[in-house]
Amino acid sequence: MPVNFDEYPETDRQNFVRYNPAFLKAVFGQEELLPFWVADTDFRVMPELVQALSARAAKGLFGYETKSPRLKEALAAWYLRRYNLQLNPRGLLFTPSVNTSIAAIIDAFTAPGEGVIIQPPVYQAFMGIIKSLGRKIVNNPLTFAGNRYEIDFDHLEGVAKEPGTKILLLCSPHNPVGRVWQEEELARIAAICTRHNVLVITDEIHGDIVYPPHQYLGMLTVYARYSDTIIMVSSAGKTFGMPGLVDSFVFTPNRAYHKAIKKQIERYHLDKSNAFANIALQTAFTAGDAWLDEMLTYLQGNINYIASYLAAEIPAIRFPVPEGTYQIWLDFRPLGFSNDELQKFLVEKAGLALNQGYTYGPGGDGFARMNIASPRKMIRQGMAQLATAVRSL
Ligand SMILES: Cc1ncc(COP(=O)(O)O)c(C=O)c1O
Repeated sequence: MPVNFDEYPETDRQNFVRYNPAFLKAVFGQEELLPFWVADTDFRVMPELVQALSARAAKGLFGYETKSPRLKEALAAWYLRRYNLQLNPRGLLFTPSVNTSIAAIIDAFTAPGEGVIIQPPVYQAFMGIIKSLGRKIVNNPLTFAGNRYEIDFDHLEGVAKEPGTKILLLCSPHNPVGRVWQEEELARIAAICTRHNVLVITDEIHGDIVYPPHQYLGMLTVYARYSDTIIMVSSAGKTFGMPGLVDSFVFTPNRAYHKAIKKQIERYHLDKSNAFANIALQTAFTAGDAWLDEMLTYLQGNINYIASYLAAEIPAIRFPVPEGTYQIWLDFRPLGFSNDELQKFLVEKAGLALNQGYTYGPGGDGFARMNIASPRKMIRQGMAQLATAVRSL
């Protein structure tokens, strides 16, 4: 059954973080905004998912559940079928969310004060996790040549060889700048990190959201040529529009790491499974290919629409064309605002809730992130509000 991505499903969204009035008020100072901030989708999920979940609910039995071998096999088959990435289903571990996985792993593999490299501007929760665990943020800022972000490998080598640096937390594909790291870039990271005994945690939650001709390449595939000192964390939440429903999964080819992560999961009782997550994951990974491909085409259409609209109506505002993720990283620097002024402009003049660039760390000043996983009508409305606001300056 084809999905109508143009549809804006009518439902009460008050409890969705993106639409929640209290969250909007706390972050933006007002509630009446068109929300393009939190990174989830506005689309109805695939019909097979609704059917499977309804059938599960109709059973009326909700005892403690464990992750089923069928689900693990479906997950591994997805990665093999779509990306030629081999994951041994028996090696998969689960926690309630990707951020939970990252925190648990950093906690298990480092001591307070030790350094974790991140590549800003990057997903802001990374900084919060590292700080709240009392670890040190080690920045390896991306460089921006005006249309594409790149990794500064010399700088990476410099920080990786510092004695206190223990982990590189890689965002692959990268949120918010939309890069899909190529094989050569991943290989250079792998060479540097293995040379200096830096463990790589690769967060690949956006791995399925990649636009042709770009292709997602799992860091595990590249790393296999170097070492097994790598841990992948991911989730199907972004891919299938269900971050409120499912857990995250963790995979490492290293047996000792697997044991250590398992111990950490047991320590904090992170493996309590949810009956709906089980069936949702199994269904999505088994039957989700066509739906995902349709969503990617629709998202690409949104990106093209925004690029044309900006070029025609607000040429001062541009964005590096995303290779992956459903975020665009709008460059407002030509408008000459301070971060406070940009926030005021977006909220008070444009009526938009976007994520402020500076919250993504060094390199983020003057940018704002926009989530484009919404029906075209809402995207059009957002662009029109932005154009009116810019014209009023
Ligand atoms: C790179 C990255 N990692 C993790 C997350 C959060 O994942 P979870 O909700 O499973 O903690 C996000 C959400 O935007 C993200 O962009």
